[in-house]
Order: sequence, then structure tokens, then C-alpha cells
Amino acid sequence: MRAVAPLRQSRIAGLGEHRPAGRLTNDDLAARGLDTTDEWIRTRTGIVSRHVAASDETVVSMGIDAAAKALAASGLTGADVDLVILATCTMRNAIPGGAARVATGIGARGAGAFDVNAACGGFCYALSVASDAVRTGNAQRVVVVGSEKLTDWLDWSDRGTCILFGDGAAAAVVTTADEPGIGPVAWGSDGEAYASVGVPEGDWAVRMDGPAVFRWATTQLAPVARRACELAGVDLADIRAFVPHQANARIIDALVRALRLPEHVAVARDIATTGNTSAASVPLALSALAGSGAVEPGGLTLLLAFGAGLTYAGQVVRIP
Ligand code: UT7
Repeated sequence: MRAVAPLRQSRIAGLGEHRPAGRLTNDDLAARGLDTTDEWIRTRTGIVSRHVAASDETVVSMGIDAAAKALAASGLTGADVDLVILATCTMRNAIPGGAARVATGIGARGAGAFDVNAACGGFCYALSVASDAVRTGNAQRVVVVGSEKLTDWLDWSDRGTCILFGDGAAAAVVTTADEPGIGPVAWGSDGEAYASVGVPEGDWAVRMDGPAVFRWATTQLAPVARRACELAGVDLADIRAFVPHQANARIIDALVRALRLPEHVAVARDIATTGNTSAASVPLALSALAGSGAVEPGGLTLLLAFGAGLTYAGQVVRIP
């Protein structure tokens, strides 16, 4: 048997995103009769509005659009792609997964394709697997997609959950590189706390013990971010941008404080107009940050995703 090829380096070559045109404001939620206010949602979560997919916008169709844009940004076409990984937890049906249809939709005929379900942690898991596939030579060019239609899984009368989530998709193209562009992953899980967020057996909508998840996120995840930096051999002082999962602006603030990030670090705050889009959250926030020009191409960026499972994962990447 032939040995694994010598390791290569990997990088993110381009990003793409799909934000549904449909938009739901906090006032819209209150106007529907939900016992809440714009003021409560803004101050407790930082969310002002979220995107809502139309009935013909699906996890797969949004993923295809985001992936096609990421390929265009990378100067590639579907024919160049040999692996597609779809991070999602909101497919309407569990069988089959959606990745093969995304591959077909972008013209990546015959590409390897599989889904990753690590809920809101999913994109960072999928990115790590994509990076390893490129580094070992198992793939040359990988499309990693985070796509979610959470609004299919929300109880619009449950004010503890429905105010938080939104729909959307974003994608990254991972290719070989001369210099390291995707650092090692710091990942982990806590299955004992699985019941704190998710769709309970026999139920149909996401339920959550919000305060428990909030406490976990604000007390347990800063060490994961530090570990991702250590693994990448990067000092926190050298980080140009921080892209945490967009679950709650107060969680983002707490992480920034716990990590003592200097003022010059650009912090992704896509949550205000996007809400929590689970596996799409980190790539959407990364895409928005890269597009804003707040970080130079090549800037070291710390990703940190976490959520149901519980699962978490983070790594340092260079902005394409
Ligand atoms: O990606 C998955 C991971 N999920 C998360 O990271 C979510 C983490 N958790 C959170 O973001 C917060 O816990 C929430 C935003 C969900 C809730 O905020 P909170 O500050 O933890 O509020 P709470 O659940 O402790 O509730 C405080 C009060 C309660 O009223 P009483 O019992 O004090 O009278 C709630 O009933 O606020 C009430 N409340 C609301 N009021 C107006 C809860 N939701 C709402 C609402 N509008 N939407």
C-alpha cells in the first residue's frame, strides 16, 4: 500500500453567501402577537432583524447559490471541485443528505459529497475536514457550505427561541496553498448537556434552556479559542479579526472580554441583521467581515463555532 502523500498546506480561496430577501423585524414579531418587544430583543440579544427563506428557498438551493458565488470569487468552476461538504442541521428529511445535490447544482459532477451535522458548530468542523482532505491529497478543491432553514423548525409562539433564529447560507472554497491558511482545529463536545438545546424527541420545534446555554457559552468557550490560537502557533495579539458564532451579542461581548482582545481586532457582529443561522452563522459573518474591508486579505482570523450537541470547534484562518 502506498503511503499518504507528504502533507500540503490549505487555505480559503474564496467566500460566497446567500441571504434570503425575506426579512422579519422584531416589531414584525410583536405585531404577530408574540409577547415581546423590539427593545427586549435588541438589548437581550443584539438582534434587530433576521432573514426568512421563501417556500422555494431550501437548505440545498441556498447552499448552491452560496457555493456558486464562492467558486466565482475563487476563479474556479464546479468542474474544478472534487469534494463538497454541507454543514446543516435543518434538512427537512434526514435521508439523503443534501451535499450531493449541492454538488450537482454547482456542476461538480462526480465529486465526493457528504453532510456534517454538528449544529451551530458545523461549519468549523466541516472546514477542518476539508482542510485535512486537501492537506493529505485526498482532495484538491473542496467546497464547504453552511446552510440552514431554521424557520422550518421554529414554534412562533415560543418567545424564548423564535426571536433568535434566521435562515441563510454561506460557503468557502478550500484549496492547496504555499503557506498555511487554515490552522489546526480545537474541537470538543459535551453530550451530557444535549437536552439544553435542540428538537426534543417527539417534538417538532427547537426548544432551549436559554440561560443554561448562555452560561456555558460565556464560561467554557474562551479556552477553546485560546487553544485554537496555540495550535496554530499564533499569539492572540496577532489576530486581526474574531468571528464567533452569532448566537447573542452579549455572548460575543463576553468572549471578547474573556479573551481580552485588543481594540484593533475586528469583531464580527453579523447577528444584528441575521440572527442565529446555526451552521451558516460563522461563514456568513466571515463573508460579511471580509466584504466590509475591515480586515486585509491574509489577515489572521479566529473562528469559533458552538451550539447544540453540545459541540464546539474553532481554528485560525487567513481571510481570502
Ligand atoms: O446556537 C444555539 C445556542 N443558543 C444560544 O447561544 C442562546 C443562549 N441564550 C440566550 O441567548 C439567552 O438566554 C436568551 C436570549 C435566549 C434569553 O435571554 P435571558 O436574558 O437569558 O432571559 P431569560 O430566559 O432568563 O428570561 C428573562 C425574562 C423572563 O421573564 P421573567 O420570568 O423574569 O418574568 C422571560 O420570560 O425575560 C422573559 N423573556 C422575554 N421577554 C420578552 C424571554 N424571552 C423573551 C422575549 N421577549 N422574547
